Amino acid sequence: MVDKNIEAKLMETIVGNDIENAVKILKAGHPVAIPTETVYGLAANALSSDAVLNIFKAKNRPHFNPLIIHLPDWDSVRKYVTEIPNEAEVLAQKFSPGPLTFLLEKKNIIPDLVTAGSSKVAVRIPAHPLTRQLLHLLDFPIAAPSANPFGYVSPTTAQHVLEGLNGEIPYILDGGPCQVGLESTIVDFDNQQVIIRRKGGIAVEAIEEAIGKKVLIQTGVEEHPVAPGQLKSHYATTTPLYVNWSEDMVAQFSPQKIAVITFGKNIEDVTAEHRFQLSANADFEEAAKNLFATMRKADVCGATIILTRFLPEEGLGMAINDRLRRAVHDSKD
Ligand code: TXA
Ligand code: MG
Repeated sequence: MVDKNIEAKLMETIVGNDIENAVKILKAGHPVAIPTETVYGLAANALSSDAVLNIFKAKNRPHFNPLIIHLPDWDSVRKYVTEIPNEAEVLAQKFSPGPLTFLLEKKNIIPDLVTAGSSKVAVRIPAHPLTRQLLHLLDFPIAAPSANPFGYVSPTTAQHVLEGLNGEIPYILDGGPCQVGLESTIVDFDNQQVIIRRKGGIAVEAIEEAIGKKVLIQTGVEEHPVAPGQLKSHYATTTPLYVNWSEDMVAQFSPQKIAVITFGKNIEDVTAEHRFQLSANADFEEAAKNLFATMRKADVCGATIILTRFLPEEGLGMAINDRLRRAVHDSKD
């Protein structure tokens, strides 16, 4: 049942840390933005198609893109999936709660809308204390994509969520800045094979170490979910962002029109206010945590183009490069 009082207030978005209020709104079938250690999510009751539809509406997200369900602990996962492969158990033991999402065969109780028709559901146990408290108070899982308008950079603060969804959702649960800063790594299981479907907050190497063997990397769920070509850029800034830029490109723009995002080494010949550092010490974890907030800052600093470079292709650098690649203007991927 949709609570008309909440619906009437939909245009006012409140930011706070009142968990009871978040519970009330979620129980009424409305979406609430929630903090997680990766990025902020836009949550709704995963067992109700009507509630889930409200997420798609608020985000302006195509319905063919499936959602991750979030649960308070690994034990509760068993209620919603038909089987858990051994390797999933091993990985859950090591990385849950945390930035790892598991694709597992779903039970019928999970609506097809959540999985976009797939027989597998994506499941994650988030580590943020506020959201864990919230999940313990609910008797349903919450489906939650990143809490940004479809296609834009993911939010890592309550303020980012407000900037994108003000007036679209009733409540933002403010849990401070996200500590990981990149979405979860998504793992799939097929015939003894562990497959990475999205690079994210847990490095590929860490997963291989935990299971004692190599994984397959088959990403692309976000670029080509079900309907190829329908999703253009993702994680995109409004200001065009270039990764493999050339010196003559720089020459076309005056220094005031260029913003640079760097890792480790800074670039001196760009206006100081347009230089953004992901991590002065070239630390992957710090860079991951800063990535989306930095992209947002560069986007509104007044520059005409944003220039950056790929990080070394290892550890969290792989996931960061993946996000940069997809934010690229005119991406050919
Ligand atoms: O860290 C995260 O994973 C964040 C926080 C909020 O938990 N969530 C997140 O959700 O990044 P979203 O919707 O922005 O990205 C989820 C990705 C989608 O690109 C989708 O294609 C994939 O997960 N996915 C979800 N369910 C799936 C399924 N059943 N089969 C294959 N891919 C799935
Ligand atoms: Mg997203």
